[in-house]
Amino acid sequence: MASCCAIILAAGKGERMNSNVTKQKINILGKSVLRRTIEAFDACCDIDAIVVVCRAGEEDFVRGEAVGVKKLINVTRGGAYRAESARLGFDAVKDSYDYVAIHDAARCLITADMISSVLSSAIEFGAATAAAFASDTVKIVDECGFVISTPDRKRVMQASTPQIFSTYIYNNALLAVELSPDITDDNMLVEKAGGRVACVDVGVENIKITTPKDIYLAELILKGRES
Ligand code: CTP
Ligand code: MG
Repeated sequence: MASCCAIILAAGKGERMNSNVTKQKINILGKSVLRRTIEAFDACCDIDAIVVVCRAGEEDFVRGEAVGVKKLINVTRGGAYRAESARLGFDAVKDSYDYVAIHDAARCLITADMISSVLSSAIEFGAATAAAFASDTVKIVDECGFVISTPDRKRVMQASTPQIFSTYIYNNALLAVELSPDITDDNMLVEKAGGRVACVDVGVENIKITTPKDIYLAELILKGRES
């Protein structure tokens, strides 16, 4: 059976949330965003280990939220932008596992089943991402905001996380592609390196806590799951 390490990215500032605490610390129905995310990976039997990438000074908070989680093997410091944090998380793991599952801590509605379904696709194709079909018609616009084209909605998916790669493919992508803030997800690294990424439809509940409305939405989704 293939081994897989989760790399949970929690080193962001949460600027769009306009809160006095970072997003990973926000409490949703009695648990922090980070705790919820860690619990989902801990509960997934296909995940062998967890690394959390955090902001300088938040290491103790992370360890506190991971109490009782035996899979946690490392808490490491993140970088100035997401791609850099992902690389620093990967550096902590290197080739110790067959697969790495890179996940936004802010996507705390992820479930063990969603993680397993993305991993099984990554095992089949080498690289796979959680995604959902777009419900709106998407417009590609020019720099002035005028429509250039309208892609067929059946072909438009919104990528989320986890994004899971064979360690070999992800390492080669890191070697081939120069990191920058414009690389907004890990799929882009593999895409730019010439790789193919399979999109796995996990549905629309895997939201990213980004602005205050997302906290209410997350509470609604969680209450819906309970009932
Ligand atoms: N992230 C990270 N390191 C960074 C920037 C982001 O680990 N330098 C993480 C965030 O903690 C988050 C995920 O990447 O879990 C997705 O990023 P985003 O939703 O943009 O979170 P923030 O960058 O924290 O929020 P904002 O952009 O509003 O400041
Ligand atoms: Mg950000």
